[in-house]
Amino acid sequence: MFEAIVDFIKSLYPTENPVPLHAPRFLGNEKKYLVNCIDTTYVSYVGEYVSRFEDEIRQYTGAKHAVAVSSGTSALHVALLLTEVAPGDEVITQPLTFVATANAISYCSAQPVFVDVERSTMGLDPDKLNDFLMNNGILKSDGRCYNKITGRKIAACVPMHTLGHPVRIDQITEICQKYHIPVVEDAAEALGSLYKGRHAGTFGDIGILSFNGNKPVTTGGGGMIITNEEALAAKAKHLTTTAKQPHPWEFVHDDIGYNYRLPNINAAVGCAQMECFADVLENKRATALMYKHFFQDTEIPFITEPAHARSNYWLNAIILKDRQEREQFLAYSRGKGIQTRPVWTLMPHLPMYRHCQCTPLETAQWLEDRLVNIPSSVRI
Ligand SMILES: Cc1ncc(COP(=O)(O)O)c(C=O)c1O
Repeated sequence: MFEAIVDFIKSLYPTENPVPLHAPRFLGNEKKYLVNCIDTTYVSYVGEYVSRFEDEIRQYTGAKHAVAVSSGTSALHVALLLTEVAPGDEVITQPLTFVATANAISYCSAQPVFVDVERSTMGLDPDKLNDFLMNNGILKSDGRCYNKITGRKIAACVPMHTLGHPVRIDQITEICQKYHIPVVEDAAEALGSLYKGRHAGTFGDIGILSFNGNKPVTTGGGGMIITNEEALAAKAKHLTTTAKQPHPWEFVHDDIGYNYRLPNINAAVGCAQMECFADVLENKRATALMYKHFFQDTEIPFITEPAHARSNYWLNAIILKDRQEREQFLAYSRGKGIQTRPVWTLMPHLPMYRHCQCTPLETAQWLEDRLVNIPSSVRI
């Protein structure tokens, strides 16, 4: 069977070279805009492309405001600061995620609490979140939710749209509203994914996107904070641009800000990438459909978009029988020049998050043992 899978992947991505997992593609005006940055000398934090890229993302996602930043990780960090996560607080997230989600919580000196994912979306399970809050959460007189066991404030919840497949975000936000917990939506992988017709990242108080090199829209490195709240967007811009008060020559900074700006040169690439994004999305969805048809004739499940979702299929994925078969397939496919990879090691298995409170992690563990990502680049 492994041989047939490898042959099929090679037929999708014919090349003499190894087949990458997700290669960046530059199909439009990237070079032109980069040359423009160099010709005008606007390669750094001044220039037209940053606000243009923010406008593109705002219009595309339907978010009222978008603030470009240097990475998805810095976007998460600032989004948590904006929701006023403070040292000693707790933030609920999922155990199956890229480490940046948990690290951003740690940057705020807060503690992640891991609630299991569900099989259908691979993201935070709203039913388990509800159970967790019913058993552990208590609303106090300050109007905030506290963890009965640890006494800490549950200051935010960060669901993540795993591999681009939307979580049941409407239910998660509804539960969090009941407990007065702000939601930061980690949509780093999910630009272009819709849930009930609405863009991933636009359901929570704040959403974040990543434009890392392996994402369907890349700026080399970059991220975006999206929100419908004008005040949050203004604060995001301020904090990510060193909290400098506007003045033609004085340097007055009124907060401990960050240099999390996206350079114009990166935004230029993002503008060009957005011009081609509709075609990119269609191409990725067509590839996913071809995988779906191929795996239908095998015993290996291919992960398809959950109910009510239209996914960007960022990284295609299959489910192998067990961890042993996962290891065998990874070794075999990689030996044949196909870049496959397992899903992330669960956060509570990493040394820095081993001590964190968790619900039972049956589904996350089940996925960690079996899920393998297979090549997902745009086919040209
Ligand atoms: C779920 C998730 N969150 C956050 C990030 C961080 O984004 P960046 O690499 O742009 O810092 C990524 C990945 O790149 C991610 O996959």
